[in-house]
Amino acid sequence: MQRIHVLHENAAWLPPLAQAFDQRRLPWIEWFLAAGTFDLAAPPPEGVFYNRMSASSHTRDHRYAAELTAAVLAWLTRWGRRVVNGAGALDLEISKARQYAALESHGVATPRTVLVAGRQHVVAAAQRHFANQPVILKPNRGGKGLGVQLFLATDSLASYLESAAYEAPVDGLHLLQEYVRAPRPFITRAEFVGGHFLYAVEVDTSDGFELCPADACAVGDANWPLGEAPREKFAIIDGIPDALRLRLERFLSATGVEVAGIEFISDATGRTLVYDVNTNTNYNPDAEARAGRSGTTKSGPGAIAEFLGRELSGLRAAA
Ligand SMILES: Nc1ncnc2c1ncn2[C@@H]1O[C@H](COP(=O)(O)OP(=O)(O)O)[C@@H](O)[C@H]1O
Ligand SMILES: [Mg+2]
Repeated sequence: MQRIHVLHENAAWLPPLAQAFDQRRLPWIEWFLAAGTFDLAAPPPEGVFYNRMSASSHTRDHRYAAELTAAVLAWLTRWGRRVVNGAGALDLEISKARQYAALESHGVATPRTVLVAGRQHVVAAAQRHFANQPVILKPNRGGKGLGVQLFLATDSLASYLESAAYEAPVDGLHLLQEYVRAPRPFITRAEFVGGHFLYAVEVDTSDGFELCPADACAVGDANWPLGEAPREKFAIIDGIPDALRLRLERFLSATGVEVAGIEFISDATGRTLVYDVNTNTNYNPDAEARAGRSGTTKSGPGAIAEFLGRELSGLRAAA
């Protein structure tokens, strides 16, 4: 039987997608790729495979899930299976340095970034490349904003690196990055499904750098100042500039990424810099509801279900 196979390692992010599949009566099954056994000489089942492996999988004790997924994707591809967000997407998902190289080669500007292997080299690199400037330290393999920190001075960066709070990046690679100061505390995340722009969402960053939009990640609104009406953290906006959208769509098509959430910041001088490509993307249900998109093909899960359903029908027609 031809089915949609969802490759993932975090069940908490599946319900919105499951609902969208079930609403359309699409046959689907999940592949939980934290562990498993695969006979590489045997053909995989028939159907469409959708890879949702996440850069942050190691933070859920699934240290080798990304490596396992890379191997499984190679097996699926060798057997000619239709894979959505295949090896090219996973390759970008787990390396911001590779994201930036691919973005820049498609004319998309990224923040000035220095790659540092070795904790002992971080301070010297910051002094050399970001002297007297605020700098962002982030892991090359990121996810959910974990480990992303702003340092206003090299001294504080040095003390952090010496402290017990320091966490080594899982792939050993640190990124030092220019701090892009937005005139308002917002970043924009543009969502793409089937390689095409779906919508963009403005995210309020005043609470910090952990911006996972899924309900499963919500941290509550306990931090709002007393007496102030809570602002909505996620708000869907009309669109993004055409030139940027076209460049991002070309970048996605060239790298084999069909579903993505791409984050950027615009600074006071009008520069727009893309700093994060998420090939495993979650959608904010409240923002979608306020925009009248819930349950429709204009919602993230709805658009994915429609897209994968179409791919499945294509396979069935060809069979
Ligand atoms: N260069 C930067 N300048 C300003 N803010 C940044 C920069 N890089 C990251 N941030 C902030 O930190 C958040 C998390 O960083 P990001 O690179 O997206 O890591 P992750 O892959 O973990 O989501 C961003 O959404 C943004 O709010
Ligand atoms: Mg991000």
